[in-house]
Order: sequence, then structure tokens, then C-alpha cells
Amino acid sequence: MAPPLLTALLLLLLASLIPASQSQAATCLSQSFTSNKRYTFCNDLPSLNAYLHWDFNEAQSTLSVAFIAPPAQPDGWISWALNPTASGMAGSQALIAFKQPDGKMAVKTYNITSYQPLKESKVWFDVKESSAESSGGTIKLFATVVLPEKGRTVLNHVWQVGSSVTGGVPDKHAFQPANLNSKGSLDLLKGQSTASAGGNSNLKKRNIHGVLNVVSWGIMFPTGIIIARYLKVFPSADPAWFYLHVSCQVSAYAIGVAGWGTGLKLGSESKSITHSVHRNIGITLFVFATLQVFALLLRPKKDHKLRIYWNIYHHGIGYSVAVLGILNVFKGLDILQPDPKWRRAYIVVIAVLGGIALSLEAFTWVVVLKRKKASTKPYDGYNNGHTRQEPLAP
Ligand SMILES: *[C@@H]1O[C@H](CO)[C@@H](O)[C@H](O)[C@H]1NC(C)=O
Repeated sequence: MAPPLLTALLLLLLASLIPASQSQAATCLSQSFTSNKRYTFCNDLPSLNAYLHWDFNEAQSTLSVAFIAPPAQPDGWISWALNPTASGMAGSQALIAFKQPDGKMAVKTYNITSYQPLKESKVWFDVKESSAESSGGTIKLFATVVLPEKGRTVLNHVWQVGSSVTGGVPDKHAFQPANLNSKGSLDLLKGQSTASAGGNSNLKKRNIHGVLNVVSWGIMFPTGIIIARYLKVFPSADPAWFYLHVSCQVSAYAIGVAGWGTGLKLGSESKSITHSVHRNIGITLFVFATLQVFALLLRPKKDHKLRIYWNIYHHGIGYSVAVLGILNVFKGLDILQPDPKWRRAYIVVIAVLGGIALSLEAFTWVVVLKRKKASTKPYDGYNNGHTRQEPLAP
């Protein structure tokens, strides 16, 4: 049973390595403009790989911005907006850059009142000039606007990217956390963009959820399996491996249930979006892990005739928890979209665990085969009708 699961685990790892390599490490300070224009301030915005550069003339209340972001798809759109009345999208006064029906890039203005199809309109500020460029999968939106309220230098801003434009109208954007957290407060004089309070505390909850679940389902459960599978080959590790395995898995279960609870809470708070695959895998994990706890209580004695069935059941569910746990960590990373270094770090941890498991697997086979050779009944292990890994069973 183990080799196919191990293979599945490795395939999973390989698959997850691919998207991890396309990260973006640039900062706004290294960005330059073809016109040699320099802006006084720039900010690496906290989501959607977006950057904002600006100059602000307080006396005249004019703001010159360059907003840079990769659209969700090459023919998509990018948008930067000020919201004079609220902190989110509703009420925002948006500049949207996209390819016009004539094939040229341009910037249009939208007074955004709801999620209804957008209609070009006048906005809160006057646009003195605007332009847009698209190259290498990134759009640059340039605009100089006059703010109507002199002296108001701290403003809420929102930014967004979308994947398509239909008939000259930007289509709805995605509703991933990165699309929902793309807002902040901009201090035009200090040159700072800070996350708005609401988004922040929610992000903190999501991060706690992520850490708890990565540690338990993504690292401790697989480690506990490695302990059980490979330590018990050594007669000298006999009761020790069992207690180590049980304490590792029981702690993993405790942390995992806490993490699972935070997930349920986040799910109930997120009314507009449901991550159903992530949620369903999470529920399955909880059920499976709970079954394992009961399995421990109902374990038949070593020489009981039912013990073999118990082993199959316990190992089957155990390996499923490991595979589903790791899979769901990657699903969670896709949803949360933290800095790419976290995904890479987790891949390294899993690769190390996988490497340890592989070398122990090879080592175990050497030990078991040697024992067989030394034994007076060399075929005993194969003749009793059990699987080939039977010599490893407790
Ligand atoms: C934007 O739309 C809202 C709601 O229709 C309206 O109250 C507001 O005056 C509009 N803003 C501008 C600048 O037209």
C-alpha cells in the first residue's frame, strides 16, 4: 500500500513546485519609466503584485500617479481608485486601464456604486491627463488628477485587476482574498500606504488558521507516520516508537482541531465566497483523524486475528490523512496567497520529510532482506499470504 501513496506524494510535490517558481521579487524602487519620469514616492502594495508611484502638489491639489500591476490575464484590465466616502470598492472613483476596441491602451473613469456592469462616468476628481502602456504581461496606468477637496491628504485607495474586457467594458474581477484585500489608506504627504483596519484583522485570522493547519496536518501528521513506519523496524525502539507516534499524532490532532475550528469560523464569516474544495477536504480530514483516535481505543491485541484488518484500516486512513493534509495545505496557500517564500518553505519541509522517508524506506528494505537471509526459514515472510511489508508490521 505504501509505495503508490509515496509516489502520489512525490507527484504532488513536483506539481506544486511549478507555480512556485514564478514569483515576483521586484520592489517599486527598482522600477523605472521610459519617459525618465521620477516620482517622489512609491509603495509596494500588499496584494496583487501591484505598485503605486506618485507625486503630490499640495498647493494645487494635483496628484500624479503611476499604477503598475499585471492584469489577471493578458487581455485584462488594471484599476486604481480613490474612495472619498468609504474604505472598500463601493463608492470608489476608479481609473481603469485596458485595451480599447480600437486596439490602443487607454484609461477610463468610473464612479463605482455596485457590482453592476461598469459604465464610464465622471468621477470625484478631475483627470488632467491619463495614458496606459502594456508590455511583458504588465500594465502601467498613468494619470494626473486634481483632487476637489484641498487639504485632504489622507485618502482610502483601492486597486484591482481583471482578466477580460467585453465590448469595451471591463468584466468582473475574481473574488480571491488578494482581490478583496487590495485596499488601504494612502498618506499623500508621508508617502505611505497602510492596510485598512478591517482587512488587517481578517488577514491575521487567516494567517493563524494557516499556521495551525500547516503545522498539524501538513507537517506533524506525516512526521508521525514516518516515525511509526520506520522506527518499528528496530527491535530496540520497540515500545518507544509507539509512544512517540501516539504523542506526535495526538498533539497534531489537538492543533489540527484548533486549526479546523478557525477554518469553520472563517468560512462562516465569508458570505460571498465559499472555497468548497478546501472546505470539503478539511471536513474529511477532521473525520478521518477523529476515526484514528477511536481506532487507537479499539485496537485489538497484537496476536488477535482481527489485528491484520485493524492494521489495514489504520494505515489506509493514516496515509489518506497525510496525502489530503498536504494537498489541502497547497489549496489553502492558493486561497491565502501569502508571500511566495512561505509556499517555498513548505515545499522544502515536505521535500525533506519525503527524502527522509525515501532513504528510510530503502534502508528498511536492506535490513529486512538481511534478516531474511540470516533466518533459517527464508521464505516465511512471503508464504503466509500477507503483503510484502508484513515483516514491518508490529
Ligand atoms: C457617483 O454615484 C453616486 C450614486 O449614484 C452619486 O451619489 C455620486 O454623486 C456620483 N459621483 C459623481 C462624482 O458623479
